[in-house]
Amino acid sequence: MAVWRGVLEILTVDLGERSYPIYIGTQLLTQAELLTPHIRGQQVAIVTNETIAPLYLPTLRATLSGYTITEIILPDGEAFKDLPTLNKIFDQLLADRFDRTCTLIALGGGVVGDTTGFAAACYLRGVDFIQVPTTLLSQVDSSVGGKTGVNHALGKNMIGAFWQPRCVVADVSTLATLSDREFASGLAEVIKYGLIADEAFFLWLEQNSEQLLKRNEALLIEAVLRSCQNKADVVAEDEHEAGKRAILNFGHTFGHAIESHLGYGHWLHGEAVAAGMTMATDLSVRAGWIDASVHCRVKRLLKACSLPTKPPKGITPAQFMTLMSVDKKCIGGRLRLVLLKALGEAVVTANYPESHLAQLLQELCH
Ligand code: NAD
Ligand code: GLY
Repeated sequence: MAVWRGVLEILTVDLGERSYPIYIGTQLLTQAELLTPHIRGQQVAIVTNETIAPLYLPTLRATLSGYTITEIILPDGEAFKDLPTLNKIFDQLLADRFDRTCTLIALGGGVVGDTTGFAAACYLRGVDFIQVPTTLLSQVDSSVGGKTGVNHALGKNMIGAFWQPRCVVADVSTLATLSDREFASGLAEVIKYGLIADEAFFLWLEQNSEQLLKRNEALLIEAVLRSCQNKADVVAEDEHEAGKRAILNFGHTFGHAIESHLGYGHWLHGEAVAAGMTMATDLSVRAGWIDASVHCRVKRLLKACSLPTKPPKGITPAQFMTLMSVDKKCIGGRLRLVLLKALGEAVVTANYPESHLAQLLQELCH
């Protein structure tokens, strides 16, 4: 048998009896011993998509050769994160007579992970699932924390559940096949953690962005580890987003306005979030909470990662404001935003000068 030459780091998401490990490293898809302790029965459904299946499904399938495996291969794209696709998963599980001891494994990016997690939350009123994220965004964000769901024609991620995985296996070796644009989009969420909770990590990213963009595996492990540690800390404190968890949406209120104006798919999520984080940082400077140099550093780092730092042309300030006001954080007509009190410290607040927001939109949107 070949000797395994990968790297492995382990973190825990601390949620009492629902705590689970995040395994981060290289060449992890071949490591049965990471997965098997988290699989209760014999029936395993690997849910993936048409793009990822030829790349990684044979390896994962071989690793789990001792189980009865069903493969569920979905079409690729955000457009298929919907109820009909969810139903196809149920069709196959029922046709194959999957029982309550079964485990669903999500092999893919955030679309596969969110859909599969929600299928697991609903099937037979809840079965086990495991996240095997294969995009940078899903390794640092969507696979951790238990938010699962699908889109509705009237809103993104509107139908869903909190349902925690049994474990997360983030194999950074899978990132080698990701497109440059998808990779950079994931980096936006990595940078987010530095800004909202971890100044030292932000500094580390400034110093290492060049090698990170070359996908140096040791640096990728460090970036995923520190991102997941920050997310796990927030989730352990506020699993169901009663308060603090909303800081994970830094830049997202501005970003969602951009995404819904352009139509989903034109800018990637991380690209819109990058522009949104620049705007939220700018507003924090205008409110007098942070120094203007932070805004310059944020723009410099995002640009180094080929990410946008301002909204696309063609949105008026009034349109931008209307699009932002449908945000879930809007309470009693007052828009709450995630802003920076310091580099590495975010707050959710409705207590910012509205005139500064109006001025910011006036300057950036035309
Ligand atoms: P995605 O799942 O659409 O993946 C992006 C593209 O990369 C797809 O075409 C996919 O097939 C391809 N791909 C995936 N892994 C690959 C690999 N290793 N090599 C080559 N191609 C690969 O997008 P995403 O950015 O991973 O996730 C976005 C989704 O995540 C959105 O639906 C968003 O709402 C959701 N999300 C959820 C949470 C959460 O907390 N649950 C957080 C953030 C985002
Ligand atoms: N992606 C935001 C959250 O998990 O809360």
